[in-house]
Amino acid sequence: MICKNITIKDNELYFNNFKVTELAKKYGTPLYIMDENRIRENVNAYKSAFKKYFGDSALMLYASKACSFKYIYEIMKDEGVGIDLVSSGELYTAKAAGFDLSKAYFHSNNKTDFDIAYGIENGVGYFVADNIEEVNVIERECEKLGKTQKILLRLTPGIDTHTYEADQTGKIDSKFGTAIETGQALTLVGEVLKLSHVKLMGFHCHVGSQVFEEDVYERTSKIMLKFFADVKEKYNFETLEYDIGGGFGVRYVDSDPILHLDTKLKELSEYINAECGRLNINVPAFRMEPGRSIVADAGMTLYTVGTIKKIPGYKNYVSIDGGMADNPRFALYGANYTCMVANKMNEALDFKADLVGRCCESGDIIQKDIMFPSSVKRYDIVAVATTGAYNYSMASNYNRLPRPAVVMLKDDNDFVVVKAESFDNLIQNDI
Ligand code: LLP
Repeated sequence: MICKNITIKDNELYFNNFKVTELAKKYGTPLYIMDENRIRENVNAYKSAFKKYFGDSALMLYASKACSFKYIYEIMKDEGVGIDLVSSGELYTAKAAGFDLSKAYFHSNNKTDFDIAYGIENGVGYFVADNIEEVNVIERECEKLGKTQKILLRLTPGIDTHTYEADQTGKIDSKFGTAIETGQALTLVGEVLKLSHVKLMGFHCHVGSQVFEEDVYERTSKIMLKFFADVKEKYNFETLEYDIGGGFGVRYVDSDPILHLDTKLKELSEYINAECGRLNINVPAFRMEPGRSIVADAGMTLYTVGTIKKIPGYKNYVSIDGGMADNPRFALYGANYTCMVANKMNEALDFKADLVGRCCESGDIIQKDIMFPSSVKRYDIVAVATTGAYNYSMASNYNRLPRPAVVMLKDDNDFVVVKAESFDNLIQNDI
């Protein structure tokens, strides 16, 4: 099976030992379900490898853009990890969950003056500053308050990760960060070091998401560590923190590679240690910001089948009661998913169809060319696996579809952590 927490018994699909058709009946569909045990296992895989290979100074930062609601921050708080925030809205949500914001790193390529003031006011631990304009606003705000603010600078190392175009962020012409190649990053460091209310702690980069390439973090580190050595030589500044950005890719379909996190992190730490030795710089405290690999396989979406449309000689469609409003990833990236009929798991898969949503556009597709049992019919329950990352967080109200509930599964308990939106919610801000 595509995820460890999926099992099949008597023709039925189970997720973290819960029979999914029963959850669909209890809560209605569409429905996001999330396996808390799996989230914690994923966090702990990073945490324990970090401790083993990077030591006590290393810290995992959960990239909350992958899935952001109060309960997720409560889990991260309980696990003692940090978080990556990308907006004041995420900050507000983390704060409402009682998350210690001194362990929060505030990103974004364009923080507004409001974001900066709001972050400082709420004691955000770090800003990951993208450019000098932002740094100057941080300096100005902190001067007013007589505060000092820790920052990292986001750099673009010029790495091509061969993932979806929209997920590539480390190339020189990226909208994110300041380029090393052009010399702008080195100049920026000089300007930042002159300021008195901004404390530069180190550097950040993020080269892409859903990355599987063997050596991408090593190739990135080669460039970043050389830069740290250049900074030391030019400004006598020793880099204290190195934040390498997002985490490893996840398996959406059986053909995706299996990745051994522990081995990958061991290799990366060995590479970093050796390079630092060679360049004669201290090994900085390590940070990584996994989002997808923390929550993706902890999530599943359940739908009820509606219309089955057969066009002889052309193609077939299986329609469900959700779609691109709760999962826009096929429409945006052509992303792959494993889709199953949860109440017909042992039947032969001999009917090819596109799994489509109920939105008013042809691009509203969850997945093309899925093999279904030929008995698939109205009221069957379809489960789409690995939807924990970038599904709920990217959901919209397109066609005024209310966003589905998120139900958490923990040990023997299932409970709502985000309520389904009501029609009243849809009009609550309409004047
Ligand atoms: N850190 C930074 C600065 C990032 O920009 C991202 C993702 C992450 C960490 C987390 O990366 P991860 O561990 O999740 O790969 N909506 C797209 C993904 C966009 C990723 C944006 N940045 C998708 O659905 O595939």
